[in-house]
Amino acid sequence: MIGVLVSGTGTNLQALLDSGLPVRAVASNREDAPALVRAAHLPTATFALSAHPSREERDAAMADWLQSHGVELVVLAGYMHILTPAFLDRFPGRVVNVHPSLLPDFPGAHAVADQLAAGVAEAGVTVHVVDEGVDTGPVLLQERVPVQPGDTVETLHARLKQVEHRLLQAAVEELLCAR
Ligand code: GRF
Repeated sequence: MIGVLVSGTGTNLQALLDSGLPVRAVASNREDAPALVRAAHLPTATFALSAHPSREERDAAMADWLQSHGVELVVLAGYMHILTPAFLDRFPGRVVNVHPSLLPDFPGAHAVADQLAAGVAEAGVTVHVVDEGVDTGPVLLQERVPVQPGDTVETLHARLKQVEHRLLQAAVEELLCAR
């Protein structure tokens, strides 16, 4: 059973839903995340930091909620908060993230703009196991994506996301088969 965490538009969530993988619950740190609309047919919940006394207590409540829905594997699909051990220890080695660069290069929230600013010839996508760092943790899959002349953040990100959708599905399928 898969739980997905989202903060944004949710195209990666949509790809997982379309793939038929067993997504059972979707949580967000933002009540207004457009991604939640895509999961209207599933249990959804919002865990805003402001509604909890601490980051750890928020993360523990989110882990409780996911496990109450049978979730064993957690996918970060554009989830823009660091997770604490209060969450990660509940799903050891079973939290994965998709990121629009060839990690360990260009971690962080502005990876696409940072790659363009650095003038790289090749950007890329990484799916990795999540640890306490920012976009660190063991790499599961990576794929290179050439930067094209005239690329903007929007055009490059759109091409990267197409690869993200495929790579994330493949990594999740691999993890489910390995169980
Ligand atoms: C993706 O580029 C993902 O790699 C990054 O945030 C973006 C989320 O996009 N972490 P979406 O919400 O899945 O469309």
